Amino acid sequence: MTEIWIIDFGSQYTQLITKRSRTIGYSTQIITWDDFEERIQNGKKPSAIILSGGPQSIFEDDTNYKNVFDLKVPVLGICYGMQIIGQFLGGKVERGTIGEYGHATVKQKNHLIEKADKEFNVWMSHFDHLVNLPPGFELILESSNKLIAGILNTDKKILGLQFHPEVEHSDFGREVLSYFYEQIAELKPNWSDEIMMQKCLKEVETVKGHKVLCAFSGGVDSLVAATMAHQILGDDLYCFFIDNGLLRPQDYTHIETLQKNTPLNIEIVDAKSEFLNVVTGIGDPEKKRKAIGVTFIEIFEKKVKEFQDNHKIHFEYLLQGTLYPDVIESLSPHKKGGKSSTIKSHHNVGGLPERMNLKLLEPLRFLFKDEVRLLGQELGLEFDWVHRHPFPGPGIGVRVLGELSEPAIKKVQASDQILFEELKTQKLYQNCWQAFTVLLPVKTVGVKGDARAYEEVICVRIVNSTDGMTATWTQMPHQFLEKVSSRIVNEVAGITRVVYDITSKPPGTIEWE
Ligand code: XMP
Repeated sequence: MTEIWIIDFGSQYTQLITKRSRTIGYSTQIITWDDFEERIQNGKKPSAIILSGGPQSIFEDDTNYKNVFDLKVPVLGICYGMQIIGQFLGGKVERGTIGEYGHATVKQKNHLIEKADKEFNVWMSHFDHLVNLPPGFELILESSNKLIAGILNTDKKILGLQFHPEVEHSDFGREVLSYFYEQIAELKPNWSDEIMMQKCLKEVETVKGHKVLCAFSGGVDSLVAATMAHQILGDDLYCFFIDNGLLRPQDYTHIETLQKNTPLNIEIVDAKSEFLNVVTGIGDPEKKRKAIGVTFIEIFEKKVKEFQDNHKIHFEYLLQGTLYPDVIESLSPHKKGGKSSTIKSHHNVGGLPERMNLKLLEPLRFLFKDEVRLLGQELGLEFDWVHRHPFPGPGIGVRVLGELSEPAIKKVQASDQILFEELKTQKLYQNCWQAFTVLLPVKTVGVKGDARAYEEVICVRIVNSTDGMTATWTQMPHQFLEKVSSRIVNEVAGITRVVYDITSKPPGTIEWE
């Protein structure tokens, strides 16, 4: 089986190499330099290696990367990775005086990458650059300012690229990657929807016969993970949905729909008043998050214990919808940072497995969000269920600015429902990544009926994004905004004004707290 290792040198784009490669049938494993050395010491050998980009300078790096090339397997070096190829195989890298960031044009010398144009636009992000080719290499791509942009040694099957074929901003990125996989490295594809499904199911198979617990939110990840696990575990899977009172009306209807229309065994725990007692009066965003998280764990643990005692069963595993970005986020981005054994705790349930002495089951931990959605649909889940907007663990808790109170939560719930209904009826829901309302604790003057009103403000926030890391505010049709605004001021008590947030991320964040 083809096994491709990406050695991660900390580029912000490393995940995208895996993502883009999968779209052309190749999956890769992202590992640190320490992982690589450990694997080599254990006698392992991949089918090919990709050296990622990285923010550091080769001149400040004293690691000997020679053993990458001693393995005599195909190598693709991207950006920093190409400089490693240059430096260790006898070429010359020069310290940059001015960096090259952003769009650039590259020209193919002999048009070897046939599926790409002779000249195309790419995304560059580097400071140092290669000035002399290592012996045995030919120049295959040159940038418009005459810098070496691509080098190849066909005998050794080594390709170096100064640009990032993995980012959307680079034209022909897929073609360049498939040129490496298919023509240079001659690898057999190792990824397809079928393989993805089998890999996840195999994970669940390992816990067959055991009782498995799931902290179920009804969001895409926990729904797909639970549906998949249910196929193998059946009634040994128990889903607990904690109602913390910080949910939107759409979440309550969704969970009822899932209870009715899926075979999942979903236990709804009404913990509204417990949460309200704890969070009322807390104003600081981080204190709110902490209080909501801690209360979640305490209630979950208590209710599960009661359930186990009452039903005389014992849970051994906790099913989580952890995704690949969460897993690699926990790896040190820097090669010297070493291997981290702690996988980032998943939102609400951080610390739960240790506290409750549960082993983790994370069947989706190899997948990206869009793959999870695809898998969900293949499992027969409805399109709308697997294309819901993300909703943060602390819920409405971070959408009431300042002190939390029951009336404030209700204002967000009511306004969010109006926004949701309008997005659905006007068929705009799928045009955005996230859409929600926030209660601003400021009073402004308005006129309601014949009387002067002095009431609070609702902010409507709608953004487009691909991963939540960056986002742009969405240019919604004016008549849509008008309808939402007019419905909110008319239907939600205590609100006299609606504003629309036109801040992108960065510098803003998606949530207000
Ligand atoms: P920000 O506000 O940081 O949000 O731009 C990026 C994405 O993360 C979500 N988010 C959270 N999710 N717990 C979560 O589970 C949190 O505390 C939290 N804060 C933000 C946010 O909704 C967006 O999708």
